[in-house]
Amino acid sequence: MTAPLWYKNAVFYEISVRAFKDSDGDGVGDLRGLTEKLDYLQTLGVDCIWIMPIYPSPRRDDGYDIADYYGVDPVYGSLDDLKTLIDATHQRGIRIIMDLVLNHTSDAHPWFQAARADRNSPYRDYYVWNDDDQKYAGVRIIFSDVEKSNWSWDEKAGQYFWHRFYSTQPDLNFDNPRVQEEMLNVVRFWLEMGIDGFRVDAPTYLFEREGTNCESLPETHAYLKRIRRMIDSEFPGAIMLAESNQWPRELIQYFDQGDEFHMAFNFPLMPRIFLALAQGQASSIKKILNDTPAIPANCQWTTFLRNHDELTLEMVTDEERQLMWQEYAPEPQMILNLGIRRRLAPILNNDRRKIELVNSLLFSLPGSPILYYGDEIGMGDNLNLPDRYGVRTPMQWDDSPYGGFTTGAPFTEPVQGEYGSQKGNVADQLKSPNSQLWAIRKMISLRKQYAAFGGSLEWVETGNPAVLSYMREKDGESILVLNNLSAVAQSAHISTAYQKTGRDLFSNQSAAISEQLNLDPYSYHWIKLLPSATS
Ligand code: NOJ
Repeated sequence: MTAPLWYKNAVFYEISVRAFKDSDGDGVGDLRGLTEKLDYLQTLGVDCIWIMPIYPSPRRDDGYDIADYYGVDPVYGSLDDLKTLIDATHQRGIRIIMDLVLNHTSDAHPWFQAARADRNSPYRDYYVWNDDDQKYAGVRIIFSDVEKSNWSWDEKAGQYFWHRFYSTQPDLNFDNPRVQEEMLNVVRFWLEMGIDGFRVDAPTYLFEREGTNCESLPETHAYLKRIRRMIDSEFPGAIMLAESNQWPRELIQYFDQGDEFHMAFNFPLMPRIFLALAQGQASSIKKILNDTPAIPANCQWTTFLRNHDELTLEMVTDEERQLMWQEYAPEPQMILNLGIRRRLAPILNNDRRKIELVNSLLFSLPGSPILYYGDEIGMGDNLNLPDRYGVRTPMQWDDSPYGGFTTGAPFTEPVQGEYGSQKGNVADQLKSPNSQLWAIRKMISLRKQYAAFGGSLEWVETGNPAVLSYMREKDGESILVLNNLSAVAQSAHISTAYQKTGRDLFSNQSAAISEQLNLDPYSYHWIKLLPSATS
């Protein structure tokens, strides 16, 4: 496991440890449960897993509110269990990254408790305080459905404290050198244990300055680079992945000269995949990728369809958002903040053609794809649960009463009905070559088999706006990808330059690329050009 650029063409898989597999019957998923399921992940073909926060936490934000940066919440197991998990993933050639929440702690963290209790405590200055709530006026509120201000009054402290997320998540004060050192030590602690890197939560908001929007400030970038320098010198090969929901031009600042983040989620692309499908038009995907500047050679995008949060629509226009809400969130309870709190399969009405089509885009466009646990089997959501918890329900392993997740009573109400474990689960789908799981597994294996998917991208004109077509190429290997985004059959007109002989990678049949190709509704093709044809 020494390849330094391993992340540049890797398939990632995001896991809620809480919801994945319970090993001891207490109804809550745990590290041992996840370790039991690594063979499944190996068969699926993933290269790296990302585990959501497992730190001790009062869970006002599902663990993104950390009360101890150096521990594992006992409900998930122990540090030894984590070590066992790390070793077991590595034995299978899989890497493992975890969440690093720099921006804020839980209000239950001893630092905050000490800070609020005593103005003279050394911890007071670990947080951002003010006598009124007028400082940094105009800074946007992220959890706008719940929070009305980024300041909250703390009775005990006799001051307001600053928070970009829930008021139970006070922001750390990165102007304090001790906070900077503390967080470097946190990074060291987990890397020493063998973790392969971090999905860095909310890196955008570390510093505040009056008169700015308090996002992506130069001081913030400077500190993130400091972490990177430490990682490069002490733990080469470990990665930092940025969770920053910004437009491409701001987002690429997180790569800078290849000396800040190794990876960043491609937030602008994600909603446009859904937009393109809703419009039956390829243009929004093309436009955003054309507008995305090139990134340094040692950096990579992480592409995704869904994750544990709402499908955020911050990066689209008001009209586009309306269209997407209409199409994908027809009931008010499906909307959260500016996004959609549903899983992939229900968003797409459980239409296998659409589900496979968006996955075709995910696995064939540039960037390292990341799958959200359960989306490979078309899991559903539970809208009765509040906030984003409806998309974090127990993984459905088999058709036993609680889907094989636990022998006890699950920590939350599982998904029932059309998407329940009786209808969709790993065991059944593994047995059936026609299942969605097999389709996704096939895409992952093709993606890994052909280096072209880590190579260049060139749009291929088809004269048809409903068809998104492109050539992926590397070292003389060329793959033509065709996606019909519309609900009706379409034809693609291919110029003579591409009229060659190839092989359809899904059917394994030879495919002659002729002047006119007819594409079924929502169909996709990955056609490898025969070597002689590319010369
Ligand atoms: C982003 C995480 O993805 C989200 O789940 C969390 O609520 C916020 N950051 C705050 O940590």
